[in-house]
Amino acid sequence: KGLRVSDQGFLNTAVLHSQITYIDGDAGVLRYRGYPIEQLALHSSHLETAYLLIYGSLPTKSQFEIFSNEVSQHAVMHAEAQQFFRSFRYDAHPMAVLTSAFAYLGSYYQEANPSLQGQTLFTKGDAPSLAIMDKQIYRLIGKATTLAAMAYRVRQGREFVTPPTGMSYTASFLYQMDYLGQEDYTPNPVLVKALDVLFLLHADHEMNASASSTLQVGSSLVDPFSAIAAGCASLYGPLHGGANEAVVRMLLSIGKPENVPAFIEAVKRREKVLSGFGHRIYKTSDPRSFIVRKTADEVFKITGKDALLETAMALHDAAMKDEYFVSRKLAPNVDFCGLIYRAMGFPMDYFPVLFVIPRVVGWLAHWRQMMLQTGGVKIWRPRQIYVGAGKRDYVPIGKRE
Ligand code: CMC
Repeated sequence: KGLRVSDQGFLNTAVLHSQITYIDGDAGVLRYRGYPIEQLALHSSHLETAYLLIYGSLPTKSQFEIFSNEVSQHAVMHAEAQQFFRSFRYDAHPMAVLTSAFAYLGSYYQEANPSLQGQTLFTKGDAPSLAIMDKQIYRLIGKATTLAAMAYRVRQGREFVTPPTGMSYTASFLYQMDYLGQEDYTPNPVLVKALDVLFLLHADHEMNASASSTLQVGSSLVDPFSAIAAGCASLYGPLHGGANEAVVRMLLSIGKPENVPAFIEAVKRREKVLSGFGHRIYKTSDPRSFIVRKTADEVFKITGKDALLETAMALHDAAMKDEYFVSRKLAPNVDFCGLIYRAMGFPMDYFPVLFVIPRVVGWLAHWRQMMLQTGGVKIWRPRQIYVGAGKRDYVPIGKRE
């Protein structure tokens, strides 16, 4: 009674107060904890930004040293996890593997297990244990790259690689992906820097579908590994993290610049979607898209230009001057970075994984904020309005028509 469905898709529903990420979609502004994304992309690293997002301020030198040591120490996976990865079919989608891997990870850490409520982190009424929470945060950030590299290598039939020591977060990830047994192998520093910038750009984006999935699941006070698995599942969809893969598939299907006008017409007839365009929040431009473009230039200097680039540019130019897209305020979003991933040699279905690795940070920042909120966690339990059949009597199967 008194309920009405007023906001399907949550276009205008704020579910919490947050101090983490600020977006002004009309002005094209994105700030993490007050810092403009442009400044962070230029001066910071993904791991330093992770600290900022989770703990609220840029770390001092010693805080950063402790944080990065903890993250890299927690990167190593247990030996028997290799069997878990090898149990998937050879052609399993890496996002299905990664989603399962986060949930599987939770089976190792009893202190985060909700069945032990009352003793640890999840004590209702008491302040959660910061030390225990932090440990899960180090584990999840550290192991995200390891699990992602394992999900990649298992499909290649290659041995798994132990995370190296003494490398940056992103270099260590590329090392685990690429390493083929050469002594003194190090990933190309320009590609490391480019991927690190892309990680930083993807680290958080306030109440997007996967962050709210993480919080919805986390609000039941389940362990953070299960909540992160839910975020990962949500990101898998083509309207969210699957869009970077969809962009490249779309460009491949268009094939060449000459085919762009026909594709645009098909979009306008609603037969196709222009992947990589449009955003729920940004209605002018997505500030990340400019940094993606600059990063692409750096990467293409090393890898050579992607053959799809011309088609992408033709599509961009055609859409930006077409009334259909202009009147709906549709502009490129961050997902054109699929072209960079392709140039770097990542397979297409692996692109969403490259979104998950950094976004684990944002999910954890939101999860930690929720766990520490004044008054404790309230379970997220929306309402509905029932519009189904009225009361009816059961009919045995033999008497049904
Ligand atoms: N191609 C063609 N038409 C579009 C597109 C598009 N990419 N995006 C929106 N529209 C149209 C839509 O049909 C609607 O038209 P009308 O008012 O005539 O019915 C109008 O623009 C408003 O769009 P909407 O679907 O109401 O907007 P939304 O806020 O619900 O959806 C979106 C946002 C991102 C899901 C949507 O723009 C989309 O599907 N984009 C393509 C997929 C994509 O690139 N997703 C990645 C988003 S950014 C990274 C991330 O969050 O993961």
